[in-house]
Amino acid sequence: MPLRDLISALADDLDIGVVLTDGQLAPPGPHILYVNTTFERMTGFDRAEILGKNPRIFQGAGTSLAARKRLARALRNGERHTTTLVNYRKTGEAYLCAIDVFPIVAPDGALISAVALEREVERKPGRRPTARTGKSG
Ligand SMILES: Cc1cc2nc3c(=O)[nH]c(=O)nc-3n(C[C@H](O)[C@H](O)[C@H](O)COP(=O)(O)O)c2cc1C
Repeated sequence: MPLRDLISALADDLDIGVVLTDGQLAPPGPHILYVNTTFERMTGFDRAEILGKNPRIFQGAGTSLAARKRLARALRNGERHTTTLVNYRKTGEAYLCAIDVFPIVAPDGALISAVALEREVERKPGRRPTARTGKSG
């Protein structure tokens, strides 16, 4: 069963946002291969608008460069990574997004794909919406 079909079977009805990409880390990758309905609702994008694009389209002026770099490094190393980033909906509205990214790595170490679980989190009053980040596990 292709990975996308497997993820779709698992994730279509989940109430957490799910996004699957290919393993091409350098722009214009990673390409979005699948998103679930919860992800569409959170971002305001229909899947037809974002399939084939890369998840940087959710970033903007408020997205921490340092957090992005840590995420990029984890993906290069094939490591699971959790972070909280400022992302932007289709409307341009910023929201705080907790992301848990799982790389899918071939036996030779090559990155095949990545799956992220994404959830909007509330901003704590008085706290700046900057990134919190760290390794899981
Ligand atoms: C499966 C997956 C989902 C991602 N989702 C998001 C996201 O929702 N928001 C975001 O800002 N970055 C997301 N990213 C991260 C960016 O695609 C990119 O990896 C990050 O910006 C670091 O790489 P760069 O320094 O080349 O930009 C995701 C990455 C992957 C692999």
